Amino acid sequence: MISPIFLFVFFFILSYSYASHVQDFCVADYSAPQGPVGYTCKDPSKVTVDDFVLSGLGVPANTSNMYKFGFTAAFAFDFSGLNGLGVSMGRADIEVGGIVPIHSHPGATELVVIGEGSSIIGGFIASNNKVYQKPLNKGDTMVLPQGLYHFFVNQGKIPAVIYAAFSSESPTVQLLDTSLFKNDLATDILAKTTLLDVAQIEKLKKLFGGTN
Ligand SMILES: *[C@@H]1O[C@H](CO)[C@@H](O)[C@H](O)[C@H]1NC(C)=O
Repeated sequence: MISPIFLFVFFFILSYSYASHVQDFCVADYSAPQGPVGYTCKDPSKVTVDDFVLSGLGVPANTSNMYKFGFTAAFAFDFSGLNGLGVSMGRADIEVGGIVPIHSHPGATELVVIGEGSSIIGGFIASNNKVYQKPLNKGDTMVLPQGLYHFFVNQGKIPAVIYAAFSSESPTVQLLDTSLFKNDLATDILAKTTLLDVAQIEKLKKLFGGTN
């Protein structure tokens, strides 16, 4: 006798593998609601090559901010052909002396290649608190493992261009500073849970727009 659990697992695997091979792509239909796993598929008869091409990563991003850093995304929200494929790209521009602040992508590994620049410190912090960092130069590639905090500092003499690929078509980002200081988490709770001084928290909340 075949167990019902076996049958359930068997048909689940069958339906899953069928779903992933039933069509070549699932171009995002931005006019339909977005579900938890992505956008609804556009009618294949309406798909064109332009769903699979995005122009724009040739242009530097605006870096007029306190980090001297700008980012241009080629993610599923603006690049319909990526929907469902589990990959995306982006371009980071970092002025001389600029930084990419410490952040993580909870669901995506990032793979970068330095397009322009030199002496760009690239680093990440492992879950055992060990730091892996190194000055990167044009042509160097670095991988930032999924979910780990990472950063860049342009210590070179020219603006840096970094191209980044992600193992998700819609990577999310969590910036350490804004997670802590750009919301309504009460200062006394923040002080207790981080051991930071209240004065420092108030200063950073003012900078990032946090309240309470
Ligand atoms: C760049 O961003 C700054 C700050 O948001 C803005 O004031 C400025 O107009 C932008 N520059 C360009 C060229 O878009």
